[in-house]
Amino acid sequence: MDESKNQKGFVCFTVFICLQMLMSQTEGRAFFVFGDSLVDNGNNNYLLTTARADAYPYGIDYPTHRPTGRFSNGLNIPDLISEQIGSEPTLPYLSPQLDGERLLVGANFASAGIGILNDTGIQFVNIIRISRQLQYFMQYQQRVSALIGEEETQRLVNQALFLITLGGNDFVNNYFLVPFSARSRQFALPDYVVYLISEYRKILVRLYELGARRVLVTGTGPLGCVPAELAQHSRNGECAVELQRASDLFNPQLVQLVNQLNSEIGSVIFISANAFAMNMDFIGNPQAYGFVTSKVACCGQGPYNGIGLCTPASNLCPNRNIYAFWDPFHPSERANRLIVQTFMIGSTKYMHPMNLSTIMLLDSRT
Ligand SMILES: *[C@@H]1O[C@H](CO)[C@@H](O)[C@H](O)[C@H]1NC(C)=O
Ligand SMILES: *[C@@H]1O[C@H](CO)[C@@H](O)[C@H](O)[C@H]1NC(C)=O
Repeated sequence: MDESKNQKGFVCFTVFICLQMLMSQTEGRAFFVFGDSLVDNGNNNYLLTTARADAYPYGIDYPTHRPTGRFSNGLNIPDLISEQIGSEPTLPYLSPQLDGERLLVGANFASAGIGILNDTGIQFVNIIRISRQLQYFMQYQQRVSALIGEEETQRLVNQALFLITLGGNDFVNNYFLVPFSARSRQFALPDYVVYLISEYRKILVRLYELGARRVLVTGTGPLGCVPAELAQHSRNGECAVELQRASDLFNPQLVQLVNQLNSEIGSVIFISANAFAMNMDFIGNPQAYGFVTSKVACCGQGPYNGIGLCTPASNLCPNRNIYAFWDPFHPSERANRLIVQTFMIGSTKYMHPMNLSTIMLLDSRT
């Protein structure tokens, strides 16, 4: 086990560094986020792309009631994790406000539209693909080193919490984007999944090499059940079969990959978060979770409000708390809260090999 790597250093090399460490201890550990629109805190606002959430009614329930680039009516999953670990929300890496001391809180590198593969989301043109997100993370470490030194930066990174959310777009915005897509002509679905997992392995290994020691890895949600897919591919409001099949193939292999990597490294570095099961709980029985529907998006148009994007001209539900889906693809803040609650205290069915409260307990002891 390498729990010792998470040991908090109490040696103060200079008064400055000593203060920094005290601060980072009282403010909680750093948090780094990689992935797609489910976890993007607004990087795409700074890019020339159509994959953006910077207009009303996005952000309508955010504390400022303004759009921020998050694909939510309010807070998203990373925000709620930050809340749980007692940290400020992560700023988008491209935000000019992410500077000086704020860098020590961590950073969010995620970019809506991206996937595991470079050709995923090409229709969005200018987005930060995952290899670029990892390059930015190296650049981040250089910037922090200039502030607190190399050794302290390494410690900050080793003690940090990481979240990576990838894969949904490799199906929705690639393989299944159009009939007879290039990838679907190249691969049968099971072979495509094997290819995705082999590429995902490289990404996770790289993250480990760059210093990550606690990484939450989310599988895909039930891709066939989102309002966009119900509108396009469902007969009677049942989840679209082919996309469900994709999730069913992908998620177990991702868990297997996580287990393999942990046993190769000899430590619990990666933690599988079963986003599929977490979503299915309230999609299968929305009323039990206080939702009136899990099929109709709060913001959108057409059947299930699932056609096109959520824009100022869309239908908008008056009470976002009773909708599981905010827009045709993304959960509402209230659904995100249920998801993050399960991250915290879920059983091994949801969080494998352990949940976030257990991780926090372990990491605070060492
Ligand atoms: C994706 O692009 C990056 C940067 O150009 C490259 O390093 C990487 O090998 C590419 N990945 C694949 C699977 O082609
Ligand atoms: C998850 O959290 C709960 C409550 O905090 C705890 O009792 C449980 O044992 C944890 N499960 C795992 C697998 O870590």
